[in-house]
Amino acid sequence: MCGIVGYIGFRESQPILLEGLKKLEYRGYDSAGIAVFTEQGLEVTKTVGRLVNLENRLTGEPLRGTVGIGHTRWATHGKPSDLNSHPHTDNSLKFSVVHNGIIENYLELKEELMMAGHQFLSETDTEVISHLISVEYEGDIVKAVQRAVKKMRGAFALGVLTEHEPDRLVAVRYASPLIIGVGEGEKYIASDIPAILEHTRDIYILNDGEMAVLTREGVELLTIEGNFITKEIFHVDWDLMTAEKAGFDHFMLKEIHEQPKAYRDTMRGRISEDGRSVVLPELKITAEQLKGINRVHIVACGTALHAGLVGKNVIENLVRIPVETDVASEYRYRSPIITPDTLVIVVSQSGETADTLAALREAQRCGARVLAITNVVGSSVAREADDVIITLAGPEIAVASTKAYSSQLIAFFLFGLYWAQTIGSKNESEVAHVLAAMQALPEQVEKVLAQAEVIKGVAESISHHSSLFFIGRGIDYAVAMEGSLKLKEISYIHSEAYAAGELKHGTLALIEEGTPVIALLTQEDVYEKMLSNIKETKARGADVLGIINEGHEVEVAKSVDRQFAIPRTLPLLTPALSVVPLQLLSYYASLALGHDVDKPRNLAKSVTVE
Ligand code: F6R
Repeated sequence: MCGIVGYIGFRESQPILLEGLKKLEYRGYDSAGIAVFTEQGLEVTKTVGRLVNLENRLTGEPLRGTVGIGHTRWATHGKPSDLNSHPHTDNSLKFSVVHNGIIENYLELKEELMMAGHQFLSETDTEVISHLISVEYEGDIVKAVQRAVKKMRGAFALGVLTEHEPDRLVAVRYASPLIIGVGEGEKYIASDIPAILEHTRDIYILNDGEMAVLTREGVELLTIEGNFITKEIFHVDWDLMTAEKAGFDHFMLKEIHEQPKAYRDTMRGRISEDGRSVVLPELKITAEQLKGINRVHIVACGTALHAGLVGKNVIENLVRIPVETDVASEYRYRSPIITPDTLVIVVSQSGETADTLAALREAQRCGARVLAITNVVGSSVAREADDVIITLAGPEIAVASTKAYSSQLIAFFLFGLYWAQTIGSKNESEVAHVLAAMQALPEQVEKVLAQAEVIKGVAESISHHSSLFFIGRGIDYAVAMEGSLKLKEISYIHSEAYAAGELKHGTLALIEEGTPVIALLTQEDVYEKMLSNIKETKARGADVLGIINEGHEVEVAKSVDRQFAIPRTLPLLTPALSVVPLQLLSYYASLALGHDVDKPRNLAKSVTVE
């Protein structure tokens, strides 16, 4: 995830910026850079790769000056490269910007600026901001930034410097976090507390639509409309480790809580302004080609495969084209039937999983077109696929995948709708109906997260068991598989996911007095059938937790021991909500058992061997 740090004071800024960026390294990044006011003016050094590369460059030619901004980039628009790294400048080299977030309308803005003669060096959305500010500048950087941000749509945390006003550092926040650190004669900006914790514990937390103007002497706080505001200083009493996890006990819990943001970011700019269609300009596949596809293979490993199982339901429902899902390590050895009319969708958080990459190559060798859904721009999978949809979950640090999985679901919803609108299998109002429900998901996830304590209680009780079952029908079965995997991965409790109707064809005998059963019943069309399946388990003594839709509480209470209600959404979208209590369940079970939640045994974040 991108990181911002900025400094204005009386000390050399370069070491403060570099140290600050190092404190943000844990969040993941692919390139880094700094801009400092030196005697020569505003100078920028930036480079792809680790911070050590940047340090090496700066060792020979340090940037000397007491005002500067720095950035670690996690690529979203444009591959990791020197030119795409931040800070970005305008053509006069007098304005420099670091940015976290996404500017949705950057292509429009870029086109207008190019018509007016601006030249761009990078593929990023951020470079547009520095140019915009330069155009708007009429002698006051604060006003120029205010005018520029009015033209921007999306999410942004900005640090802005201009050579015209070397004693001011301007910061803006809109839907991407930014804090201001206050010291004696020195002030800081940062995207996260750890970056500046060593220098100050007194901070202002900016809210969306607020900005700050920093000088050595003080901080002026105002709205982007220009109204001055006042704020209480927040005194941070966290240690560094707690600050890295934003106050959460583990990265996994933090990442579970980041899902509303991950959903918003993955949808951002991909839904038309009127909310009636999906916009995926990154896809090269033409409407004609999409119309010619007659079968789909979804290939992935582990959690990503489970996202693919939901994806199968989504595409078959919206597009009515047959979809097979395949374990990537099996795919290329089983001689799958791949024709030029097959679309192969590979799903991978890291984009580096060896089995998934091999499946991608096999599909291309057989003449299929490959679409990748991945979280890492510039990864092998992203580079080699014919089309790519990037999930914007940000880097995932906990080994067990949570926000990457759920963002993959959002990518499938978007792609399924895009395909449906392209071939006309759904009409405009049907697409708009689903999109409206999708846009409600982030807030609905927040509601689910607010009830985490309920799940904590259940998790503590199941942690004493050595075996349990997850059951569901249809799309709930796909989610049950992810719930079961998550629990096994981090709590080491054995569990099985079963299609609820299949249980009686084999393993019902394993359900004994007190065996925990997690039953998902969010699909109204099979609701009655699920109740019967639950009864079958109850008759053998199962202790059932029902994951249900709001509104069914009273009725379901007769059939289950405990229940957890998720807000109502469209049946196809329920996995984006129902997976959250299951993630929490595995987290709290692992915690109750005293395991290392973020680094479970025998599991690597990126599996680059076959
Ligand atoms: C589970 C988990 C793994 C990965 C799998 C694929 O929490 O993280 O099952 O999903 O190894 O990894 P990616 O998505 O990077 O290809």
